[in-house]
Amino acid sequence: MPAVVVLGAQWGDEGKGKATDLLATTDPIDFVVRTSGGHNAGHTIVVNGEKFATHLLPSGILTPGATSVIANGVVVSPEALFRELDGLIERGVEVADLVVSANAHVIASYHSVIDKVTERFLGKNQIGTTGRGIGPAYSDKVGRIGIRVADLFDEGILREKLEAALDVRNHLLTKIYNRRAIEVDTVLEELLSYTDRLRPMVADTSLLLNNALDEGRTVLFEGAQATMLDVDHGTYPFVTSSNPVAGGVCVGSGVGPTRIDRVIGVIKAYTTRVGSGPFPTELFDEDGLELQRIGGEIGVSTGRTRRCGWYDAVVARYAARVNGLTEFFLTKLDVLDSWERIPVCVAYEVDGKRVEEMPMTQTEFHHATPIYEYFEGWKTDISGCRTFEDLPANAQTYVRALESISGAKIWGVGVGPGREQTIVVNG
Ligand code: IMP
Ligand code: MG
Repeated sequence: MPAVVVLGAQWGDEGKGKATDLLATTDPIDFVVRTSGGHNAGHTIVVNGEKFATHLLPSGILTPGATSVIANGVVVSPEALFRELDGLIERGVEVADLVVSANAHVIASYHSVIDKVTERFLGKNQIGTTGRGIGPAYSDKVGRIGIRVADLFDEGILREKLEAALDVRNHLLTKIYNRRAIEVDTVLEELLSYTDRLRPMVADTSLLLNNALDEGRTVLFEGAQATMLDVDHGTYPFVTSSNPVAGGVCVGSGVGPTRIDRVIGVIKAYTTRVGSGPFPTELFDEDGLELQRIGGEIGVSTGRTRRCGWYDAVVARYAARVNGLTEFFLTKLDVLDSWERIPVCVAYEVDGKRVEEMPMTQTEFHHATPIYEYFEGWKTDISGCRTFEDLPANAQTYVRALESISGAKIWGVGVGPGREQTIVVNG
């Protein structure tokens, strides 16, 4: 199992950590790599019954022996990086090795100022971002006024680059948003305060990872955000500013597509979304509240309650296609234990027509209403099941039905939050 991608197939919070845990039970993982996003992610990791949340650090940070890598495609807030590391160290856990790409872009305090001000300016059109500066840092990157990790080690260059970046940003802040300008010296001082601690962690992570793969080591690319939040393939503009899809892993790490062996799409047995944007199977009734309550659907990063709805096979098929999924890992099946009858969206109706695939335009997607098929519930606590055959017949039927309409086989099923509450299907 040399190079494996684990990514979200819906709108995030699918429980990607469980798929990682299952992989680690059969193959020790040498590297855990993040390739996109920043400290907007929310991973919950349970170690020896204790709960830890990380936002920027890969989950591998709590796996002794695994090296955590923050690759070039990530936007790195040094402040968040060290806050998270120190938070873990304070709780007495053993923190694994961490390597940060010299080419990763830096999030400074002005990026989150701009993120929040922009959202306020958008009013009712706001994206519902996490406010952490992710979007502004990526727009600086593409606008070629970004600061990269390597720039922090050359004060002269850093000053020059900050002058260029803040010139543009301050025009925006003062003339459009009516805010105070941000001083170059303030940001310079802020960023230079991290350099001594950061320097030993910085490396050419593309070289590191390709060498590791040459040596037959196991590299896990850990997704953040998810397919439907992808800036190209998601529900634009209600998306994050990077490419969480499988292709983004290659761009974001400098590891070529021919080196990837498995692409696992993690998908919940129902659907959730935080922030704004279209969501065809969203529920506004008791069932929605029940999913939210039983599933504990509250954001790890923002504390916002998540919007909830039924499983959407159109989204699943789309995720299978745009990521080239080799398999799915279905999480939180146990959340559905109490339902009499479980609806599954198998297609949409768009402007009076049945469509089986993701509509071509966002306008059509906004008009899509779900066409449901109904499955008998199992009305049994399945949290103790450990093999597929342990599952009640109706739960087996539900899983097989999802598999047949979702575009890839189901490799594993999660039946509870614990690391061991997992069933391997097909093998
Ligand atoms: P941003 O990534 O902070 O720019 O936020 C853009 C959109 O992505 C918002 O709808 C966020 O709620 C959503 N988002 C960002 N990160 C995550 C995540 O890890 N899980 C779920 N949604 C996310
Ligand atoms: Mg999350």
